[in-house]
Amino acid sequence: MAYFKDFFQYAGTTRIIAGRDLLGSTGFEFQKEGAHRVFLVTDQVVRGTGLVDKVEAGLADGGLELAGVFDDVPQDSSTDVVDRCAAAAGEAGADSFLAVGGGSVMDTAKVADAVFTHGGTAREQEGFLLMPRQDDGMGRPLDIAPLACIPTTAGTGSEVSMAAVIKDPDQKVKLEIADFPLFPRLAILDPDSTRTLPPLVAAATGMDAMTHAVEGYVSVDWNPLQDGRSLQALRMIRDNLERAVETPENDDARGNMLVAASIAITISLGSVHAMSHPAGAQFGVPHGVANAIHLPHVIRFNAEAGADLADRYRDIADIFDLDSAEALAGHVADLVERMGLPTRLSEVGVPEEAIPALVEGAMGDGTTLLNPREPSEEDYAELYRRAL
Ligand SMILES: [Fe+2]
Repeated sequence: MAYFKDFFQYAGTTRIIAGRDLLGSTGFEFQKEGAHRVFLVTDQVVRGTGLVDKVEAGLADGGLELAGVFDDVPQDSSTDVVDRCAAAAGEAGADSFLAVGGGSVMDTAKVADAVFTHGGTAREQEGFLLMPRQDDGMGRPLDIAPLACIPTTAGTGSEVSMAAVIKDPDQKVKLEIADFPLFPRLAILDPDSTRTLPPLVAAATGMDAMTHAVEGYVSVDWNPLQDGRSLQALRMIRDNLERAVETPENDDARGNMLVAASIAITISLGSVHAMSHPAGAQFGVPHGVANAIHLPHVIRFNAEAGADLADRYRDIADIFDLDSAEALAGHVADLVERMGLPTRLSEVGVPEEAIPALVEGAMGDGTTLLNPREPSEEDYAELYRRAL
């Protein structure tokens, strides 16, 4: 690229440890981040796999106390769950949070930690860079209690991001909460954590990671640091996603997908996420499935917007040995189908009559502002019709 970008900022403060047999070191590692009495957040599916027992043993081994366990996080967490989780941590006398689960669990723990530390409710945390500052103004943001994440899916990247998405069931919208203190202090990436992941969930969450990498690379907020991450994540997804789905016992593929998902994460998302958030909030379409459906359509839409953008998509296409955005869109659609995921919104319970409400949701979603081509209401309606 020939020009110096007018402005960008980049942050990433999570310590990542990745490797085999790390769960037994959870306590040893988390203690370095100031944890003593740990509140463990998970869901019942993960708890049923025995993974939580391994993590608990690892905490004890490192001399940390388990203050309590909250295993009531649903697949698509909501503001009332976060408030209950924060209250339970307070009652348990915890001083730190450990999330063991997928995006919903990690986002619940993040926002519950903010409520636990600063008070208020989950709903009141909504916004971008709005957490309490030292001088109650523009100063340094106040830290939240130490937070560690052990992801059990390879996709969301929440374990290394400063953002969380939580459903507000009354308003039927997804609240986005983002600020620097929400970067977890520690992320532990161990292929043992995704050993029991069902192949379709591995496929859907892997498509979320791929979407992060693509949207981060073409976003208006692109920057050279993110570029390096996005392209490397795409190489690792190319080499490992289908292997992880087809041969779930392959530790190398699963471990590499965990790393790829953490590399792919970005705050510079775009219209794929803008379209997927309302599909999730209004129809419960799983986030990765919604992204998998929308991604090819948004690639085609964006790539029409000019030569610079077409070039950016060509950089991505090149990784897959393809030569255009159109070929890339086709490749993504084929990949989604090969992995057995739904390819159309009508397959996941979204009716045509829903399009106006979905369009309204997409237009109001913060990620629309970061998409490299400004979509109109009619553009979104057309994109949803194509995805139907
Ligand atoms: Fe996502």
